[in-house]
Amino acid sequence: MSNLHWTTGITNVKANELRLRGYRVDELMGNVSFGQVVYLALTGDLPSANVGKLMDAMLVCSIDHGATPPSALAARTAASTGAPLNAAIAAGILSINEFHGGAIHGCMGILQDGLERAAASGKSIPETAAEMIDEFRAEKKRIPGLGHRIHTDDPRTRRLFALAEELELAGEGVSLLKALAAELMEKTGRSLPINVDGAIAALLVDLKMPRELANGFFIMARVPGLMAHIHEEKSRMRPMRRIHPTDHEYDGPPDRQIPG
Ligand SMILES: CC(C)(COP(=O)(O)OP(=O)(O)OC[C@H]1O[C@@H](n2cnc3c(N)ncnc32)[C@H](O)[C@@H]1OP(=O)(O)O)[C@@H](O)C(=O)NCCC(=O)NCCS
Repeated sequence: MSNLHWTTGITNVKANELRLRGYRVDELMGNVSFGQVVYLALTGDLPSANVGKLMDAMLVCSIDHGATPPSALAARTAASTGAPLNAAIAAGILSINEFHGGAIHGCMGILQDGLERAAASGKSIPETAAEMIDEFRAEKKRIPGLGHRIHTDDPRTRRLFALAEELELAGEGVSLLKALAAELMEKTGRSLPINVDGAIAALLVDLKMPRELANGFFIMARVPGLMAHIHEEKSRMRPMRRIHPTDHEYDGPPDRQIPG
């Protein structure tokens, strides 16, 4: 055996047989959801259909947020210069960082630390949240996962939490984030809604997803949205146009219902 030999535990590739974390890929196909397979690939465990449903909802909720987010503008700017699809997608992804999409990572850290602190001190989640808010306020720090430039009651957060309750998957991560938001409101008199990054962070904590992967959830969800922007830019707009960041309006289909 050469000294270049190394091991991987993700996919076993044999002639005419592919196994992801031990499961045949052709058996996973059509039998489990994309969300379940993402969870399997990342953690090594095949989760229940309910976890898959919540994973799918997390991926659906961040698919696009119009043409103003920095990642959409970056992808459109690259596309307008004639960049190929992969380069324009990369330009969009490279704009997903600490202040755009990155709140999932920051919020997961706060929730994980808070839950460890509550377990170690024996204090309740509301008591721990009150202590944490006092500390954040003393340090004049913002809590990632709270506040939104546009939404005061983000429909995605509401739906994610309702689904998690319905599927009995909402745990202490969700409770702590709700307690932090309530405590902040009580102490400042200002309502800072839980944004979708915060909602995803709380659910990822409850699903025991490693925090190192947090930002990847936003990236996975947003790639199809970026592709739609890139395709529209290339098929409808003049090359190298001046792209105004906010002066645009929607001209797509009118509001409609899911059939059936
Ligand atoms: C998202 C965000 C930039 C929106 O900001 P905004 O609505 O434009 O609000 P502003 O930046 O004008 O802040 C208004 C006030 O609320 C406070 N505030 C806003 N978000 C806060 C937060 N997450 N935690 C604590 N205080 C917050 C600000 O300090 C400011 O207080 P001040 O008037 O006493 O200075 C902001 O809420 C934020 O930084 N959130 C944390 C990061 C995050 O979750 N990002 C993901 C967004 S999807």
